[in-house]
Amino acid sequence: MNDLDSLVQQARADFAAAADSTALDVAKSRFLGKSGAVTQQLKSLGQLAADERRTAGARINAAKSEIEALLEARREALRDALLAAQLAAESLDVTLPGRGADKGGLHPVSRTLERIETLFRSIGFDVADGPEIESDFFNFTALNTPENHPARSMHDTFYLEGDDDVLLRTHTSPVQVRTMRAHVAAYGDRAHMPEIRVIMPGRVYRVDSDATHSPMFHQVEGLWVGENISFADLKGVIGDFLRKFFESDDLQVRFRPSFFPFTEPSAEIDVAFMHGEMKGRWLEIAGCGMVHPNVLRHGGIDPERYTGFAFGMGPDRLTMLRYGINDLRLFFEGDLRFLSQFR
Ligand code: PHE
Repeated sequence: MNDLDSLVQQARADFAAAADSTALDVAKSRFLGKSGAVTQQLKSLGQLAADERRTAGARINAAKSEIEALLEARREALRDALLAAQLAAESLDVTLPGRGADKGGLHPVSRTLERIETLFRSIGFDVADGPEIESDFFNFTALNTPENHPARSMHDTFYLEGDDDVLLRTHTSPVQVRTMRAHVAAYGDRAHMPEIRVIMPGRVYRVDSDATHSPMFHQVEGLWVGENISFADLKGVIGDFLRKFFESDDLQVRFRPSFFPFTEPSAEIDVAFMHGEMKGRWLEIAGCGMVHPNVLRHGGIDPERYTGFAFGMGPDRLTMLRYGINDLRLFFEGDLRFLSQFR
């Protein structure tokens, strides 16, 4: 039946022309729908004689199956094309160079801390640390600091709510006493106790904020206790350290007489800026002195037999001097425009 052949041809062409599944549904209804061409053919069977009806019916059904198969094939082709388009749109080109190729770097203060540790280790110092949440005893009392000392006041020190005995340490000096006690516990029974030679880096806290003060900052405490340790040793160690740290033999360093309850005599150490707009200006970088006998006693050490020196320096300040930076707060603001210059 020519009619049916051309119907199949027509369906093939219409299906091929349908660009998406909606268009395909419309085309489908033209052939297989309630009033579609194939359905019309089947309806017309009723007008035929019984024997013709059987052969005609078989032909129509064959054509119908063929059209259904064409429809299904086209549906699948459209689905495949859609998937392929999606995959192409979302594809990753794994051969493109990555975007995260920037390297991070150490914070300038971390660089300074590592440098300090390396230099002190090279002359036989250990590195120790202690708690940032400290007791009033270790932060003040054990360091010979009297009840009425200004550092103990509420507006200089962060106390923990509801407990006057617990505070954020205002300096790393409490680690001196902790270190002495641990040392005595380990070696105190020997006839010749080994020397204590240790630095104690860490964070400290004060109610303070301006270009050269931040409420959180860093200190590196130093302690050398032994027989016959003198102020000359202190000057030698600090002077050598600073010249190595700044890689400069003609670094300007001065020791200014000062007072700390936990050292006697005491001094402050200033270094002059070598670069930048601050060139020539002095910046205080450390406090130091001979460990007070009362502090040695709190550490369990006999001040008649042993002496020692201690210092507490500010690595943030050393970093300012080394790189010619005039505002300490830049270190703690996390601004990448500043930090990335130190990569
Ligand atoms: N702890 C003192 C301060 O924070 C510094 C210091 C340490 C002074 C050790 C003398 C000896 O100011």
